Amino acid sequence: MRKALTLSGSIRTGSYNQMLQAHMDKRLFEAGFVVTHVDLSDYDMPIFNEDLEPDHVPETARTLADLIREHEIIFVATPEYNGSLPPLLVNTFAWLSRIPPSVFRGRTWGIGGVSSGKYGTVSALSHLRDTISKVGALVVPGMLGIGPASEAFDENGNPVEQSVNAKIDQMITAFKTIQIDRT
Ligand SMILES: Cc1cc2nc3c(=O)[nH]c(=O)nc-3n(C[C@H](O)[C@H](O)[C@H](O)COP(=O)(O)O)c2cc1C
Repeated sequence: MRKALTLSGSIRTGSYNQMLQAHMDKRLFEAGFVVTHVDLSDYDMPIFNEDLEPDHVPETARTLADLIREHEIIFVATPEYNGSLPPLLVNTFAWLSRIPPSVFRGRTWGIGGVSSGKYGTVSALSHLRDTISKVGALVVPGMLGIGPASEAFDENGNPVEQSVNAKIDQMITAFKTIQIDRT
């Protein structure tokens, strides 16, 4: 069975990005993937500082890196903070990028996000695509930016806009189609 992992860059109670993550869990499961739902509040890490290497790399970072390596599809839902990425994701990815072998290479990544602005994380998604591509991630095409958040989901947690659902369909198709060499 092909395995997918999802995570959210917001651990806020009532997070819209966690709603998107949960929706992607459902869509990936329906598409035949075994899905692992990661809650980053289970992987608390200190602010990255090179002085902590190599003796004080948090065990949570190693555990998360091992978990990611067991999966071939990774979906990240991100909020947009000040036109960029939230510190939780920046910090998590900084730690992960320092633990060989790379968790970014050899797997297929999808990104999306929900924000309160009508431009729906397009700026954060550009930063996210740029940074994880630079460290080797293959990121599927498309701009799954959703906003304004308060109007984005129905009472069952499904995106209301047809254009959003079409982009998710395209991402799921890409996940099913793309298989990269994981060696
Ligand atoms: C520090 C901070 C900066 C923010 N900057 C932006 C922004 O640049 N663009 C935007 O659309 N929303 C911005 N927001 C609003 C978030 O989009 C909103 O809080 C969203 O619900 C966060 O995602 P979450 O519900 O998953 O926690 C910001 C929120 C915070 C707390």
